[in-house]
Amino acid sequence: MKGREKLCAKLSSAFLRKWWFVIAISLGCLLFGIIVAVFFNSWVNLVINSQIKLKEGSQTFKWWSKPPVEPKIKVYIYNVTNADEFLNNGSKPIVDELGPYVYIEKWERKNVTFHDNGTLTFNLQKMYRFDATTSNGSQEDLVVVPNIPMLSATSQSKHAARFLRLAMASIMDILKIKPFVEVSVGQLLWGYEDPLLKLAKDVVPKEQKLPYEEFGLLYKKNGTSEDNITVNTGVEDITKYGLIDNVNGIKKLPHYATDQCNSLEASDGSIFPPHMTKNTTVYIFDKDLCRRLPLVFQKEVLSSSNEVPAFRFSPPKNVFASVEENPDNACFCPQGPPCTPSGFFNVSLCQYDSPILLSFPHFYLADDKYRTAVEGISPPDPEKHTFYMDIQPEMGSAMSARARIQINLAVSQVVDIKQVATFPDIVFPIMWFEEGLESLPPEMTGLMKLATTVPPIARIVITIVLFFIGAILLIIAIWRLVRGANRLSSLHLAPGHVGPPNKTKDLPMANVPKY
Ligand SMILES: *[C@@H]1O[C@H](CO)[C@@H](O)[C@H](O)[C@H]1NC(C)=O
Ligand SMILES: *[C@@H]1O[C@H](CO)[C@@H](O)[C@H](O)[C@H]1NC(C)=O
Ligand SMILES: *[C@@H]1O[C@H](CO)[C@@H](O)[C@H](O)[C@H]1NC(C)=O
Ligand SMILES: *[C@@H]1O[C@H](CO)[C@@H](O)[C@H](O)[C@H]1NC(C)=O
Ligand SMILES: *[C@@H]1O[C@H](CO)[C@@H](O)[C@H](O)[C@H]1NC(C)=O
Ligand SMILES: *[C@@H]1O[C@H](CO)[C@@H](O)[C@H](O)[C@H]1NC(C)=O
Ligand SMILES: *[C@@H]1O[C@H](CO)[C@@H](O)[C@H](O)[C@H]1NC(C)=O
Ligand SMILES: *[C@@H]1O[C@H](CO)[C@@H](O)[C@H](O)[C@H]1NC(C)=O
Ligand SMILES: *[C@@H]1O[C@H](CO)[C@@H](O)[C@H](O)[C@H]1NC(C)=O
Repeated sequence: MKGREKLCAKLSSAFLRKWWFVIAISLGCLLFGIIVAVFFNSWVNLVINSQIKLKEGSQTFKWWSKPPVEPKIKVYIYNVTNADEFLNNGSKPIVDELGPYVYIEKWERKNVTFHDNGTLTFNLQKMYRFDATTSNGSQEDLVVVPNIPMLSATSQSKHAARFLRLAMASIMDILKIKPFVEVSVGQLLWGYEDPLLKLAKDVVPKEQKLPYEEFGLLYKKNGTSEDNITVNTGVEDITKYGLIDNVNGIKKLPHYATDQCNSLEASDGSIFPPHMTKNTTVYIFDKDLCRRLPLVFQKEVLSSSNEVPAFRFSPPKNVFASVEENPDNACFCPQGPPCTPSGFFNVSLCQYDSPILLSFPHFYLADDKYRTAVEGISPPDPEKHTFYMDIQPEMGSAMSARARIQINLAVSQVVDIKQVATFPDIVFPIMWFEEGLESLPPEMTGLMKLATTVPPIARIVITIVLFFIGAILLIIAIWRLVRGANRLSSLHLAPGHVGPPNKTKDLPMANVPKY
């Protein structure tokens, strides 16, 4: 009994206390290693969250408000080469896909005002510059395309009184309006004076007035948009980072049947809520798309040239499916059947009732009968015609993108109007475009690469190092203690040599070799 007490006294003696201390340190290392292994990711997330928030003067804000990137829009136009035969002899329309006509975009977010509730409001400026070197053709190329304002008016008049259609026919006769127009590519995109729109502007009552007398597929898009877009900065709620709060004070679209379909809670395509998983559905909103578009995970990609890992998101295959195939789309058909066929999205409600249908290029995901109704369109190739965005999942920033959409005109035959009497019911393709971002400049990706590749490695390295140091120290200390204790007890067993504690204190010093 006495011996054991003495042993305890030795073990707690100043010399051995050092080894207990080492054990404490080693356990500390092991514990810290566990803490790092478990919590490192959340710390990194906290750092990322605080870094990406849109705050005045921050780097992210500078990049967001004046992106150092040059997105490009590539436009392909379906030039109709047999307009006369089509109208007079009932031949199948033949189109020739021209392009790409490439415009380099410069974006800037102007008039940024911060609000107290974690949002800010801005006007988006997009400037377009024709890029002759990468374009296959010039802006002066003459193309023959369906007369969209005219065919919109005639298609809409289908259910109007007959005398109105006859009146329309004589007005069109006087104004010499034809179902096809020959315009330059520049005019088709940026606007040409349209006699019908000019007339409408003068005679139609103010409330129903079309706002423009020019027609162009990208009319008024070159410049600063008047829309006041309010987005979440992430300061209040990081899960809403980059999502639209309202556009011109309006939080929901007015067009559709349910809140889900009218929702504007979507990104504008530049920044997304961070920390995405493969299950995340991201939404992007574009005014001309007239709805938010869901995008789901496709695959992991390495963003070209700068090797930042990213997730590729694409619209689900049934995004534009008919109501029968995808009942969730019923809300986009508020006026009830007949609804748009699979593969098309009807934007007539936000295009002044023009019968415009959007689809993917070459009628990708639509029935092949629409593509073969026109001659000259090759079968769709998912590689060339899908819509996708590569997003860095941890930081939620778009790395590269190909937003591809085709614009079609759904023409209804109206026999009372002689100019279009022979124009059959058809979904006529007009053009398709690809708004793309190749990659981000190194200044932006450098930080992203650092923020996404370093933390996982750092976590493993730090954890391993801590565990290693902890384990080594623990083993040494335990071994020391065991050996020390053995020596002490053997010393202790030697009779007559045990003195008072103050003396024994020095004893081991003499016996135990120094380390
Ligand atoms: C478009 O087609 C018309 C014939 O309909 C032709 O005269 C014109 O040269 C074509 N445009 C281009 C750029 O090929
Ligand atoms: C229409 O077809 C007839 C005979 O089939 C032909 O003579 C005429 O040239 C065609 N018209 C046009 C504009 O091609
Ligand atoms: C927004 O900026 C434009 C020019 O960049 C300016 O003309 C306009 O007055 C500004 N609007 C507001 C509300 O500040
Ligand atoms: C935040 O404030 C802005 C400006 O007052 C307002 O437009 C927006 O609706 C507000 N958003 C929320 C979520 O309260
Ligand atoms: C867009 O506007 C800028 C400046 O107003 C002009 O230099 C440029 O040529 C325009 N782009 C097109 C495609 O019209
Ligand atoms: C350029 O356009 C012509 C037809 O206008 C087409 O034959 C050619 O393949 C196009 N070239 C490229 C590189 O797309
Ligand atoms: C945008 O906001 C400005 C002032 O904040 C206002 O004058 C303008 O009418 C708004 N624009 C639209 C399209 O609502
Ligand atoms: C993703 O969804 C699948 C199936 O719905 C589910 O099993 C899985 O746990 C989800 N993963 C995450 C990270 O939420
Ligand atoms: C598009 O929507 C409008 C308005 O809801 C409707 O009148 C029209 O018939 C639709 N067009 C097609 C092709 O479904």
